[in-house]
Amino acid sequence: MDTSVQYMGRTIKSPVIAGSCGKTANTDNIKRLEDAGVGAVILKSLFEEQITQEISNNVWSAQNSGEMIEAYNYIAQHTKHNQLDNYLELIRKAKQSVQIPVIASINCVSANEWLQFAQNIHQAGADGIELNMFIMPSNVNISADEVEQVYENTIQILKRAVPSLPISLKISSYSASLAKLCQKLSWLGISTLSIFNRFIEHDIDVESQTVKPINIFSNETDIYNTIRWTAILSKLVNCPLTAGGGVHKEDDVIKLLLAGANTVQVASALYQDNDFSFITKAQKRLEEWMEKNSYKHLSDFRGRLSIDKNSTVSTFYRVQYMKYYAGIE
Ligand SMILES: Cc1cc2nc3c(=O)[nH]c(=O)nc-3n(C[C@H](O)[C@H](O)[C@H](O)COP(=O)(O)O)c2cc1C
Repeated sequence: MDTSVQYMGRTIKSPVIAGSCGKTANTDNIKRLEDAGVGAVILKSLFEEQITQEISNNVWSAQNSGEMIEAYNYIAQHTKHNQLDNYLELIRKAKQSVQIPVIASINCVSANEWLQFAQNIHQAGADGIELNMFIMPSNVNISADEVEQVYENTIQILKRAVPSLPISLKISSYSASLAKLCQKLSWLGISTLSIFNRFIEHDIDVESQTVKPINIFSNETDIYNTIRWTAILSKLVNCPLTAGGGVHKEDDVIKLLLAGANTVQVASALYQDNDFSFITKAQKRLEEWMEKNSYKHLSDFRGRLSIDKNSTVSTFYRVQYMKYYAGIE
């Protein structure tokens, strides 16, 4: 039984990947994730504002001296000055500890100064970089085209800055023309398109009349949106798809492969137990299922339930069913 697959320019043994989250922020966990059987690991993200803040502090520091030093020390202390060095050290240590690909991750909203840092990520030994990009469509002065242009520019500039660093682009499902956008982005030379990033949602506490974050973790029903879009996109895009969001049951990995994903990301389910046994169980289930169905390679069944490129008819296109809704009173 061969469950190996190409991911970010490397052959990995399992299509199951540890998604970026708090569990991928230290080498002990990364080693344990490898032992549990993940094919690759995506490190916890640095946020663009962390990088730009530190870079501007460094510039400021170099330009000032004397009585300014005291003020600088205060700022440095409060801006966690070592975050970038710590991140590079995490990459180096992870690379020394495991054989699986280690992918760095940046949450960004623009093609900004953080791009300088991508070179350092490459030098530290990262096997690739995942860009988690999202621009909140709340600004009435910015059109959809302008938002999409930022995505394109960022990838193009990053590719020019560090041509040999494989890029995974992680996007959200918010777009009026998601399929068109994904197809366009997939032509920019990225190694994989990662669907979808997850948003923290907010609730309102009516007693304190305050806003509070909820639903940090996904739940089991989130998988259905991921299945739908994996099936719609996998044959439309010009690069492999990494699908994630709502993977909580072992069969979810198989479902996303059938829908056309090359690899499957898991984050919330890593918090289910202390030994990442979900990964081991999902991999075992995949192998048993392949054996039962006489599949020797992932390519024997991957995309069997995805939508053909030119098809206009698919059950995945239906979002409102008169016949189902009509009977419910
Ligand atoms: C606790 C937690 C922290 C996360 N941190 C990040 C992050 O730093 N960067 C990122 O791109 N995604 C982050 N994510 C999102 C996950 O990588 C993933 O895209 C999302 O949770 C959907 O997958 P899931 O249903 O398996 O959780 C985080 C998710 C969780 C639950």
